[in-house]
Amino acid sequence: MDILIVGSGGREHAIAWSVSRSRSAGKIYCAPGNAGIAEYAECVPIGAMEFDKLADFAAEKNIGLTIVGMDDPLVGGIVDVFEERGLRVFGPRRNAAILEGSKAFSKDLMKKYGIPTAAYENFDDPEKALDYLRNKAKFPIVLKADGLALGKGVLICSSLSEAEEGVKTIMEDKKFGSAGNRMVVEEFMTGREVSVLSFVDGKTIRPMTSAQDHKRAEDGDKGLNTGGMGTFSPSPFYTDEIDRICMDTIFQPTVDAMAAEGRPFKGIIFFGLMLTEEGPKVLEYNARFGDPEAQVVLPRMKTDIIEVMEACIDGTLDQTELEFEDNAAVCVVLASEGYPVSYEKNIPMSGFDNFAGKEGYYCFHAGTKFLDGRIVTNGGRVVGITATGKDLKEARANAYQATEWIEFSNKYMRHDIGKAIDEA
Ligand code: AMP
Ligand code: GLY
Repeated sequence: MDILIVGSGGREHAIAWSVSRSRSAGKIYCAPGNAGIAEYAECVPIGAMEFDKLADFAAEKNIGLTIVGMDDPLVGGIVDVFEERGLRVFGPRRNAAILEGSKAFSKDLMKKYGIPTAAYENFDDPEKALDYLRNKAKFPIVLKADGLALGKGVLICSSLSEAEEGVKTIMEDKKFGSAGNRMVVEEFMTGREVSVLSFVDGKTIRPMTSAQDHKRAEDGDKGLNTGGMGTFSPSPFYTDEIDRICMDTIFQPTVDAMAAEGRPFKGIIFFGLMLTEEGPKVLEYNARFGDPEAQVVLPRMKTDIIEVMEACIDGTLDQTELEFEDNAAVCVVLASEGYPVSYEKNIPMSGFDNFAGKEGYYCFHAGTKFLDGRIVTNGGRVVGITATGKDLKEARANAYQATEWIEFSNKYMRHDIGKAIDEA
């Protein structure tokens, strides 16, 4: 069957790679795709938010399954548009993607169903938020824009004056646009962060192997928040015991809560977790694969991705088990110097041939395109270099070695991706 993937980042490249290995995949299309995805898929110049055009394309090409990689179209209701036209699509409907689309919704859901998360208050009015911060808050405190903000709408404020500035940034200056019409004020938690991605069919949940992201731009977790500068999988801190606790107190309860609310969730739930002294708690939910989590989780997955996605759509996930390689993977993002603030684009790149025929090494394109017949940079995060290894140390050494294979003049990366492994 022919497949359409919607999106254009490193996550979609990893999805396209995984789909290309499926027994069920025929021709693969990606809208809009990028220069690396073009190796497995025909890239189609339709934007991810052009739902009607995408549905027309899927109908015209007789696409058997459309996979939506990105959050914006999911939150905007692309799945509903496809379903109304009788087109098969993998991802949550709009009324379920709100789990990611509104942090206020997800916090209220967790409170109602007793799912462990940081204590919080939601605000529509900046004056009321300021009043709360001045009279009731303990610092540090966390301010979160309610809506989608490219993973950047979270401010950790160590003092009242920083928090006052934060309210202005989110709710008054609207730095994150309408995402800041509402704001969550949340207790600051400490502990290890873990990402657990899972397949969900509305009732049953099958978690994938764990991963850890590095969200800050600079070594030592300094600098600004980014979409993610690198990942490793599995997390040595995510033990079997913690997994059992998460299944009982977080994963299944979240799926059951969404069903009970009349919002059955089919697709990927990404649990951003903090392993606190009081046990695992939810930092955030996403309604899609993580980027760059997908780049370390999917290369380790043995199960056929199309089969499990079909089981999610058909509600038969209870009959499917997921299998992962007994190995490890590390992904180091090569970014443009200056990301996430400002950076040059259209810089010529070289070295892609170094990956040809090298088992266990991947160059997942995030922001690249073709210009006059050659590949140039086209974004802040440019490529994610993933390597596997028998354990995390070997995978990390392999990944850093492979970062040297790709060249572009404003290449920037963190040098401490996976450093936490040494503390495990
Ligand atoms: P989020 O987009 O909600 O995952 O937030 C981005 C990052 O901010 C997280 O990965 C954490 O590092 C940090 N963060 C978010 N919420 C909290 C919290 N309540 N306590 C401590 N750190 C947080
Ligand atoms: N890497 C974090 C995210 O995809 O939201």
